[in-house]
Amino acid sequence: MKQIKVYGGNTLKGTIKISGAKNSAVALIPASILSDDIVKIDNVPNISDIYALNEILEFLGAEVTLEDGIMTINPKLIENKEVPKEISSKLRASYYFMAALLGKYKHVEMYFPGGCKIGARPIDQTLKGFEILGAKVKEENNKFIIDAEELIGGHVYLDMPSVGATINTMLVASKAKGLTIIENAAKEPEIVNVATFLNNMGAKITGAGTSEIRINGVEKLHGCFTEVIPDRIETGTYIIAGALLGNNLKIDNIIPEHVESLTLKLVEMGVDMDIGNNYIIINKCENPKPVNLKTLGYPGFPTDLQQPVTTLLTKCNGVSTLEETIYENRFQNVPYLNEMGADIDIIGKKIKIKGPTKLYGAKVTATDLRAGACLILAALVADGETIITDIEHVLRGYENLIEKLTNVGAKISLEEI
Ligand code: EPU
Repeated sequence: MKQIKVYGGNTLKGTIKISGAKNSAVALIPASILSDDIVKIDNVPNISDIYALNEILEFLGAEVTLEDGIMTINPKLIENKEVPKEISSKLRASYYFMAALLGKYKHVEMYFPGGCKIGARPIDQTLKGFEILGAKVKEENNKFIIDAEELIGGHVYLDMPSVGATINTMLVASKAKGLTIIENAAKEPEIVNVATFLNNMGAKITGAGTSEIRINGVEKLHGCFTEVIPDRIETGTYIIAGALLGNNLKIDNIIPEHVESLTLKLVEMGVDMDIGNNYIIINKCENPKPVNLKTLGYPGFPTDLQQPVTTLLTKCNGVSTLEETIYENRFQNVPYLNEMGADIDIIGKKIKIKGPTKLYGAKVTATDLRAGACLILAALVADGETIITDIEHVLRGYENLIEKLTNVGAKISLEEI
């Protein structure tokens, strides 16, 4: 077990270089097995979710290397085997293998995926997409057995713009006969990254990044090279750190447009930022104004930044509100923030944050990835020492977190307990 110890209150100065996006990389890696030849993916973050996907690739018989952020995957010797539950339940993204194996072999057996416990997280829209494309889905004790005599393009309307269902449908449709149209598709930048990767392999996808994606299936996909986009959630997390404690803190190697829903809110709060082509320089905001926020699919305010931004809202001068519309259980950070001195009420799907409040060091728990990020931000700004347990959740998603924060002046260390 690992925990983090933080001494709060230090100014953050210098540069943080953002890594490749977790939520892109975890889809690109399973997508690679659709290729008949070697693929290379650059800017792969060194995080534990990636090790879990490697384990699945190697279990299936792929040859994988990861050197200097470049992952090389040779899928030529892959066998279509049932991935053991212990491996697939480590992360949500294991279900991208479900789609990739179905697309390639027209048969797959796999368990329900894992992931942070932030809500029910059903996969009905993914399964609906598979069925519309000609697959038959059987479920026995949380295991899915999915077969298709033939995969044939179809018209898939998603009940909600699900990131996972959009990507899974694109993966299968790339190998189905004829045209698939996804309506009400998710528009996240990670979807554009995956569509570009598939197109580099020879797929024919248009409209990724809009709510209607068209995919003309092809028989074969070939080797290619691609790059993971910068992580917009890591970017947002460090931007928030800058608004709390920055002195010309530079967040570098980013796509500013991907975090506009955050930066425009920070402008409303009165935060001082210099936004360049691929960086943002940010300073601590002495007296931020309160704001109202609501999570939505891209380009709305991302649910994955909802918990991190809550720490900043505790410093706003007045009452802020935040509504979570994507997950049922994403306020597990709130009781811990209150223990540290915050004044937050949970009212159904909303929280009401009264500020400004001083935060004090405490012993708290990272219940999930972004709750942990929220508590790290709180610890950085708090008076005294904070210990955050169950930090493994956070290490799943933030590359070199300790080094990046230490390099800009934070007092933070990782301990084995
Ligand atoms: N939903 C359904 N049925 C489905 C699919 C989704 O009801 O078949 C619901 C979910 O229960 C949820 C909402 O729709 O309430 C959104 O789910 P979505 O499918 O968009 O999310 P996901 O693909 O499971 C990815 C990220 C999440 C991120 C969401 C939303 C990965 C591996 N995960 O999840 O990231 O919150 O999109 O942007 O890409 C994180 O990084 O901390 C994280 C949880």
